[in-house]
Amino acid sequence: MNPTAAAARPNAAQTAPRFDMYAAIHKALRHFMTDTLHRVGRLDVADAEQTGRVLGQLDALLTLCVDHVHNENRFVHTAIEARQPGGAGRTTEDHVEHLESIETLRAEGRALGVAPQADRALLALRLYRHLALFVAENLQHMHFEETHNNAVLWACYSDAELFALHQQIIASLPLEETLLVARWMIPACTPAERAAIVGGMKAGAPAPVFDQIVDAFRPHLDDTAWGQLARAVGIAQQPGLVDFR
Ligand SMILES: [Fe+2]
Repeated sequence: MNPTAAAARPNAAQTAPRFDMYAAIHKALRHFMTDTLHRVGRLDVADAEQTGRVLGQLDALLTLCVDHVHNENRFVHTAIEARQPGGAGRTTEDHVEHLESIETLRAEGRALGVAPQADRALLALRLYRHLALFVAENLQHMHFEETHNNAVLWACYSDAELFALHQQIIASLPLEETLLVARWMIPACTPAERAAIVGGMKAGAPAPVFDQIVDAFRPHLDDTAWGQLARAVGIAQQPGLVDFR
């Protein structure tokens, strides 16, 4: 059975009644990866400014992927192995391969950035194809984490324990990473997910930090999505309105 058909079997985990620490961050990564893939695929290599901007986005994506691997190894895999030794084996091996792929993609991006104009189209096509393979590997990997790893976490931990672990991960992130994740995560989520995530941030972050987080994702929501979120969470929608935070 092909992977998609197998994943869609009725007994496969499709909805999570339990706390799912992978769901939102993986939506952010899927969004960031596919957007970057599209931008590399349509890159005009004759446009130096666009090339620099797209390679900059690729670099930011790859840096976030490295940080994400380290965060999962440090927090999530440690928790899995503590209560089910060997339970994180496959995704730990995947992470080693991902870090190797990331170094290859970084090298290809650098090569494109300094190549003579005549070589750039071919280098861009090579980068696009290899980035596509990396995205494909990550899509499979994230699905395995959301099904197999979540099943282990749910069997071994209470939701309160998982929520506390998730809070530990969030608290460990530098502000720059929080802002980048918010930029890709919030537009990638459903209105209900956005309200829950942003509502939690509003309750937990100092007001100036919360304002920076909102500024990071606000330009990437359409007016309908922004209006829904602002009403749900209690954010002033336009300058001059009463801010009832
Ligand atoms: Fe992972």
